[in-house]
Amino acid sequence: MEPLIKTIDLKKYFKVNGGLLHAVDGVNIEIKKGRTLGVVGESGCGKSTLGRLVIRLLEATSGEVLFEGNDILKCNRQEMKKIRPKMQIIFQDPFSSLNPRMSVFELIAEPLVMNHVYKSRREMTEKILSLMDTVGLAERFVNTYPHEMDGGRRQRVGIARALALSPKFIVCDEPVSALDVSIQAQILNLLMDLQEEMKLTYMFITHDLSVVKHISNEIAVMYLGQCIERAESTELFKNPMHPYTKALLSAIPVPRLTGNQNKKIIRGEVSDPINPKPGCRFASRCDYCKDHCLGQDIPLKDQGNEHFVACRIYQ
Ligand SMILES: Nc1ncnc2c1ncn2[C@@H]1O[C@H](COP(=O)(O)OP(=O)(O)OP(=O)(O)O)[C@@H](O)[C@H]1O
Ligand SMILES: [Mg+2]
Repeated sequence: MEPLIKTIDLKKYFKVNGGLLHAVDGVNIEIKKGRTLGVVGESGCGKSTLGRLVIRLLEATSGEVLFEGNDILKCNRQEMKKIRPKMQIIFQDPFSSLNPRMSVFELIAEPLVMNHVYKSRREMTEKILSLMDTVGLAERFVNTYPHEMDGGRRQRVGIARALALSPKFIVCDEPVSALDVSIQAQILNLLMDLQEEMKLTYMFITHDLSVVKHISNEIAVMYLGQCIERAESTELFKNPMHPYTKALLSAIPVPRLTGNQNKKIIRGEVSDPINPKPGCRFASRCDYCKDHCLGQDIPLKDQGNEHFVACRIYQ
């Protein structure tokens, strides 16, 4: 199947005091139509930056982002205007991403108004009420303001806004991390139901591995701006290969009454993302590090079953 989204050697460097911060550093990922790619990794590894790059909310330093086969980074303003509605984003914290002075009606209307979708107020009102119904928000909330709602309802407004222009692709950037555990499951189920109904394709960013297992078809593991492993979700959990992925997965708490928890503790600190030296970014913390891990970046290599890993052990 043709991927809906594909990135080729995608990079974003930020100029900071002291040099260039390599937030995203040569990422190659693919997301097939109607599927979900989970993106996981520690805080600061570049997940949100990657999410913003693939919908061109942020300009890349170099590389390509193919959407339905076309490099959107080469599109001009006019072309982008046509593509933008097809790519949306849902943020972690609906409270700070929603304008507090706007009611639910105005918030959901905003993308419709900006894109001149409806000529009559009546048609638009119908659409807004139908979107509220789609995301499970009762009609009585239509004149409510963000601060008058709980986090789950606020996130439903965020989802309704993202759906307003009938997108094909949605970046979900930690959409449930700020919510109570009981509400997290409701929002995750809503996202999965919507995906099936509307044939949506998701990039699902999270640092919560139990969430990602639940929702993703494939998973990309990031470390310091690079994708170091990528595989089908069940395969990755069954057979993690990169030493970092192994440590990350072993850190998931498992309820166990007795015995050894068998956790791999990652020693040391994440190295500096500013002017990093070429070579494996995890080397300084890796028990298996050898000379050949340094000096040259290590590309993702297919292990035969579309399980890609960037580690010298497997090359
Ligand atoms: N506008 C910016 N200017 C400078 N540095 C930035 C900017 N945005 C992000 N960064 C840096 O880029 C790196 C990646 O940040 P990013 O927000 O993408 O990480 P993340 O994986 O989403 O983290 P978190 O899990 O905390 O959300 C971090 O080191 C961050 O400090
Ligand atoms: Mg983030």
